[in-house]
Amino acid sequence: MQTRFDLTQADIPTQWYNLLPDFPEPLPPPLHPGTKQPVPPEALLRLFPENLVQQEMCPDRHVEIPGEVRDIYALWRPTPLLRAVRFEKALQTPAHIYYKYEGASPAGSHKVNTSVPQAYFNKIAGTKRLATETGAGQWGSSLALACQLFGLECNVYMVKVSYQQKPYRRMLMHTWGATVHPSPSDQTEYGRNLLAQDPHCQGSLGIAISEAIEDTIHHSDTKYSLGSVLNHVCLHQTVIGLESIRQMEMAGEEPDVIIGCCGGGSNFAGLAFPFIRRKIAGKKNCRIVGVEPAACPTLTRGELRYDFGDTAESTPLLMMYTLGHKFMPPSIHAGGLRYHGMSPMVSHALKLGLMDAEAYHQTTVFEAGTLFARSEGIVPAPESAHAIAAVVEEARRARESDRKRVILFNLSGHGLLDLSAYETYLSGKLADV
Ligand SMILES: Cc1ncc(COP(=O)(O)O)c(C=O)c1O
Repeated sequence: MQTRFDLTQADIPTQWYNLLPDFPEPLPPPLHPGTKQPVPPEALLRLFPENLVQQEMCPDRHVEIPGEVRDIYALWRPTPLLRAVRFEKALQTPAHIYYKYEGASPAGSHKVNTSVPQAYFNKIAGTKRLATETGAGQWGSSLALACQLFGLECNVYMVKVSYQQKPYRRMLMHTWGATVHPSPSDQTEYGRNLLAQDPHCQGSLGIAISEAIEDTIHHSDTKYSLGSVLNHVCLHQTVIGLESIRQMEMAGEEPDVIIGCCGGGSNFAGLAFPFIRRKIAGKKNCRIVGVEPAACPTLTRGELRYDFGDTAESTPLLMMYTLGHKFMPPSIHAGGLRYHGMSPMVSHALKLGLMDAEAYHQTTVFEAGTLFARSEGIVPAPESAHAIAAVVEEARRARESDRKRVILFNLSGHGLLDLSAYETYLSGKLADV
């Protein structure tokens, strides 16, 4: 029985898919916090190069992927799509469970799908140095690699709790030539103020974003790079869904349910948006589910309103589901899902009823991740294990109603640098917060 569905290098998509023009209602624009008027594209040029600002507001359904980017994508793309037959058996479910494996990339997650084009578009625009934030280090390491490949300097603000608890991704960033600061840091005025108030501040993604933005504004050769949330990041990730559509055709099945975990929303968007396009066109009415931590429940318990993307209020206002930009998420092991907001595009899709959202506690998540590792071999990143927890629920419902359901989920990264979190779970010390 065929369980693995592979495309060839020639099948790497040549265009990204942009959901923006296909939304039944237009996406509310980012607003200037002072005037409350839509932010003109020029206002974003201090942070991003013009070519990426154009992608952020792009009205076209398809955007060409440059040859230089496809050449680097070929290091790991097309990624495999597999049917998890042993996991199905362990769950005793009639459901067919497929997963797209983005952990096959050199950095171990989907994040390189956007770090590579972001570094490329900055390079051709003349940028010398990129500043960014990272939680557990998945994004920082992905940008470090991309900057190395295009000869850019990379300066990363890493949330302090992860800097201390997750040394291996920090080492990976150093190996790929980046400079890494624990955030809050003494590198920025904002960081120094926070440290003066609380020298033990553990940091958050919102704080690290504020530091990276301040760094960018104070260095004329520097641009800012964000690993999730923004429209152009979701756009770059659509290679995941575009490949998956072809691979599901090879498997001869159509997904009834599509599942991805949501931090800022980009891996979910990458898998889901090409399928949402088909849903809007009335081709297939599948259930599409974004999954988040119960400890940071942006989509399931947040409010849809304009809010800042960072703690220091230096970004434009974005219309999104948010827990409030001052929200300090508890230190759960899925560091990449500890963000107070959600991609405006994913938020809009939820508002329009094009998707659903679910939240799970981390003990349930690690139970699902461990069962997956024991049946399929791959140890999932704690972030990706959120998607697996939702798959387990779907598979249970299929068993109870004795219905064959075809489930497709995004295995956004491997957890080989998160083994201490698994150890905590296996030794019975993991608590829900
Ligand atoms: C493996 C993995 N999956 C998911 C995420 C969440 O980010 P996003 O929602 O942008 O995909 C992260 C973030 O660091 C991650 O490392």
